[in-house]
Amino acid sequence: MCGIIAYIGNRPCRDILIEGLKRLEYRGYDSAGVAITCTGGDGSTRICKTVGRVADLEAKLDADEPKLDGTLGLAHTRWATHGAVTDPNTHPHTDDTGTICLVHNGIIENYQSLKKLLEEKGRVFRTETDTEVLATLISELYDPDHGMDLEAAVQAALREVTGAYAIAAISSKDPDTLVVARKGSPLIVGIGNGEYIVASDGSAIISHTSRAMTLDDYSVVRLSRDGLRTSTIDNVELSPKVMQLEIELGEIELGGFEHYMRKEIFEQPRALRRTMSGRLDMNEGCVVLGGLQTHAKELVRSRRVIICGQGTALNAGMIGEYLFEDLAKLPTEVEYASELRYRNPLIEEGTVVIAVSQSGETADTLAALHEVMDRGALGLGVINVVGSTISRDTDAGVYLRVGPEIGVASTKAFTGQVTVLTMMALFLARRRMMSGTEVTAFMRELERVPDHIEKTLEQDDAIRTLTEKYIHRENWLFLGRGYNYPTAMEGALKLKEISYIHAEGMPAAEMKHGPIALIDDGMPVVFIATQGAQYDKVVSNIEEVRSRGGHVIAVATEGDEDIRRLAEDVIYIPPCPEPLSPLVAVVPLQLIAYHAAVLRDKDVDKPRNLAKSVTVE
Ligand code: M6R
Repeated sequence: MCGIIAYIGNRPCRDILIEGLKRLEYRGYDSAGVAITCTGGDGSTRICKTVGRVADLEAKLDADEPKLDGTLGLAHTRWATHGAVTDPNTHPHTDDTGTICLVHNGIIENYQSLKKLLEEKGRVFRTETDTEVLATLISELYDPDHGMDLEAAVQAALREVTGAYAIAAISSKDPDTLVVARKGSPLIVGIGNGEYIVASDGSAIISHTSRAMTLDDYSVVRLSRDGLRTSTIDNVELSPKVMQLEIELGEIELGGFEHYMRKEIFEQPRALRRTMSGRLDMNEGCVVLGGLQTHAKELVRSRRVIICGQGTALNAGMIGEYLFEDLAKLPTEVEYASELRYRNPLIEEGTVVIAVSQSGETADTLAALHEVMDRGALGLGVINVVGSTISRDTDAGVYLRVGPEIGVASTKAFTGQVTVLTMMALFLARRRMMSGTEVTAFMRELERVPDHIEKTLEQDDAIRTLTEKYIHRENWLFLGRGYNYPTAMEGALKLKEISYIHAEGMPAAEMKHGPIALIDDGMPVVFIATQGAQYDKVVSNIEEVRSRGGHVIAVATEGDEDIRRLAEDVIYIPPCPEPLSPLVAVVPLQLIAYHAAVLRDKDVDKPRNLAKSVTVE
């Protein structure tokens, strides 16, 4: 939610900020703005902002005279929380004297009471945002002539604040200082040659430097052209934690694809090979997960697993529930993190909580993880973004290694999550009851999944034609059973989030308990009807839909000719063991959603009202 970038150094930063905003635009794209302390002239800070996309901001900047540029600046792309999407509510924000200029990602929960106090002191507000309140609070405390410089004022203000924030602040009275801070929302500091680039994630930094500093909650960093100082909001000095960013430019560029989502769908075979690389030991018949090694004994002795996440991550977690019970024989439940965090859950000894999250920043998932870990559970992460908050707050975990996912609709992260959960289940199964031979046989099948996905992707044109046929239908159902009930959920989520077509996913049997009333002549119903324990039951459900006029689109296993008798359209996937079938069956559903969005002329990578990472409740 919201992307932040800021720069201090010796280069003109306008283009650096705009390029960074474009990389961060997936985080929010309601409106965008930039503030730059101008080189030359009176050295004042000028702001340019607009409702719309970063491209609109760029056009506005191009038209601006005199040209806005300088060597200190900050910029923001917004996903609105407080206040409508308007120019005044767009970041950066200043206080009423124009001294402090601020960009912010997160929510200041006590902004109303702070605003009241500041109004009583005569301060004036012009926006509906919590960020303007924070800028005003910093300005109220700012008194450089009496030792309250920008760093000290930011620290003091943040001591008054409850909520989440990643901020970057500058003062019109101090053209040599940039102060940044974080709690709960992501922020890293790229360390270049005589310059610093601060951003919500590494994608906005990597074209300038691969050295970056991670920040813990409650950290404040003062950056100048001469160096940096890191402290807590209580001014306790901290040593910087520097890491190497492991992002390649090619991974965050479109590379000839029309959309990131399409690129990421087609990247899945390569991405999953990387997820598995070095982790499947065929000789020993076991899965090697370095991230879990230190807690292996505790894990083997565990008695119960709780998997939590939101959206696609939850759907992956639901498949994890089947995998853990089926393969590792471990009682497992899966729950929306947003519910788990407030449910007062009963946690006995031997409980393991697994937080599944692509970004590693989802607020609800993070809070649920803390809640359950505080009650004594061992906390594990299944995370894509290295160094993200959840990955740092867990006891141990396994990274997806699928590379940056930029399209808002999650695709390769989903298959990465399911692959990691499969490996985790096998890791435990081998230590609990499965023999090395059995595990090796299973791993051989897992290793073949990328080939199956490649074969499925070859049907892209046919899937586009099929989608075209149903493109004017406003309601779709996605049905599956067992392992493929979550696949159905994921297919429906993909379709609705990027094409805005109403879609529901559910267990095929549930249809008879109400939703069947929706089925009429022409309603597309997608069945995941691959070979497996409940195949015959799925076929019966297909018959029920057919007899009510629904159009059946079946995702079936190659060689199943019978299904043609029942389904108008069939998409075949290669045969694989049932627990692995979601990894392949989801691919045609991703393609249906993608083509539907393109055919309906929707913004595939930036669907309305959404943002890639949901860092608010
Ligand atoms: O970063 P996370 O995996 O924690 O994000 C969770 C959900 O917000 C995310 O999966 C969302 O549902 C996707 N947009 C779905 O495509």
